[in-house]
Amino acid sequence: MNDKTKLTNDCNPNELKKLKLIFNKIMEISDDGFLIVNDKGFIIEINKAYCEFLGLKKKDIIGKYVTEIIKNSKLPKLLSDKNYKTEVNVIHKLLKGQTPTNEKYAIVTRAPVKEDNKTIAAVGQVKFSHNTMKLAEKLQNLDMELQYYKKELKRLAKDRYSFNNIIGKSKEFIKIKELAKKAINNDFTVLLTGETGTGKEVFANAIHYASRRRNKPFIRINCAAIPSELLESELFGYVEGSFTGARRGGKKGKFELADGGTIFLDEIGEMPMQMQAKLLRVLQEREIEKVGSYKPIPIDVRVIAATNKNLREKIRNNTFREDLYYRLNVIEINIPPLRNRREDIELFADYFLDELNEKYETNVKISKEAKKVLNDYSWPGNVRELKNVIERAYVLADEDIILNAHLPTNILTESKIQTSNVTNKSLEILMEDIERRIIIDVLSRNNFNCRKTAKDLGIHRSTLYKKMERLNIKRKC
Ligand SMILES: Nc1ncnc2c1ncn2[C@@H]1O[C@H](COP(=O)(O)OP(=O)(O)O)[C@@H](O)[C@H]1O
Ligand SMILES: [Mg+2]
Repeated sequence: MNDKTKLTNDCNPNELKKLKLIFNKIMEISDDGFLIVNDKGFIIEINKAYCEFLGLKKKDIIGKYVTEIIKNSKLPKLLSDKNYKTEVNVIHKLLKGQTPTNEKYAIVTRAPVKEDNKTIAAVGQVKFSHNTMKLAEKLQNLDMELQYYKKELKRLAKDRYSFNNIIGKSKEFIKIKELAKKAINNDFTVLLTGETGTGKEVFANAIHYASRRRNKPFIRINCAAIPSELLESELFGYVEGSFTGARRGGKKGKFELADGGTIFLDEIGEMPMQMQAKLLRVLQEREIEKVGSYKPIPIDVRVIAATNKNLREKIRNNTFREDLYYRLNVIEINIPPLRNRREDIELFADYFLDELNEKYETNVKISKEAKKVLNDYSWPGNVRELKNVIERAYVLADEDIILNAHLPTNILTESKIQTSNVTNKSLEILMEDIERRIIIDVLSRNNFNCRKTAKDLGIHRSTLYKKMERLNIKRKC
């Protein structure tokens, strides 16, 4: 061996000292940052470039556990994980306030130092050289762009309510979804039935946007929200001068606006009998007549109707036309309430929470106890109610976990009833439980209309309110 190579190959104390000096010099003149931890994760060396980057003094860093200085350092993981591979030029996301200049990313290389297959230390290198910073900047911009497009894509897909965004894994639900898909390639009238909040509108949208009519309008009209005397002109439009206060030039009705597309007649069960007759004619003739005109206008519109009412019962009570019912229910899709497809409860809870976490860049989870309560509840307001409950709990949870305390009291009370031991309870409490359930059931059937609920139960409205308060039924009518 000649003298030139001796320095690096011989390890007598004198040579070691020289080696250390060389090592220190390399560290000192390097543009890049170097940080070394021992096998326990404590910082044993850091160079000037790295200290400057962090805005800290070397003496305040040496001897500290690495995550005390760099909170999200991956070096501890590297030390504890035998299979951890050296990472070269990877992007490290810097936490807010980590550097005085508030950089967001750095390009780093991390490597374990091994002796006889045992990790004795680890080295982290941050690349500050001009080119890599430029690269990091570019990557950062690209990453931001990517995040933006990901969100945008999701938003667009959601707006369009594609079948892919209809979630549900229970057997019953999958069957319903298959049935709904049968409505895509034809123009048959669809009747969607199911309690409030089960997703009738979601299905109506999905069918429209999957059908050949997707580039034409999807027009919704809520038959329950429009006074009966206005419903006809809303649906079919009117001609100029047809009544006092009529707009100059007349007005197009929803059927005309939906031409080539789909009209969604929501809450069809609330449609007055006389309008039902007119609608039936439109469905048979495929043409409309505007208010104040006798000139029929041909229309090309697909009709999807929805109701949370039992139409057969309404037919029996003479409040719904049987012939219209058979016109509408060419394809009838009945969406079961959430309580009859319990596998979907947790799925929805996670789904809505994921949406919030993504939107606000958080990582809130649901505790096991809270999940159990959600699973036990009867969900009279179905998916809509579940969504509201999750949103409310998300806002209330100050830590990263949703606990029972963040759930509405009526949900907690109901869950206690179902899970506690029946034999331990007095008859009075058992009766209250049953009363509560009956009232919630009738309320949900009536879309939380207290007047109707009281009538159905044969009690006065004020009695119903009192009972609801006593039984802790917090739903507003
Ligand atoms: N299967 C589903 N997948 C995703 N979201 C759903 C589903 N069912 C219902 N929702 C959500 O629940 C809420 C109520 O749905 P909606 O279609 O308005 O119910 P309905 O018309 O039956 O009262 C909406 O926010 C909707 O996005
Ligand atoms: Mg609806």
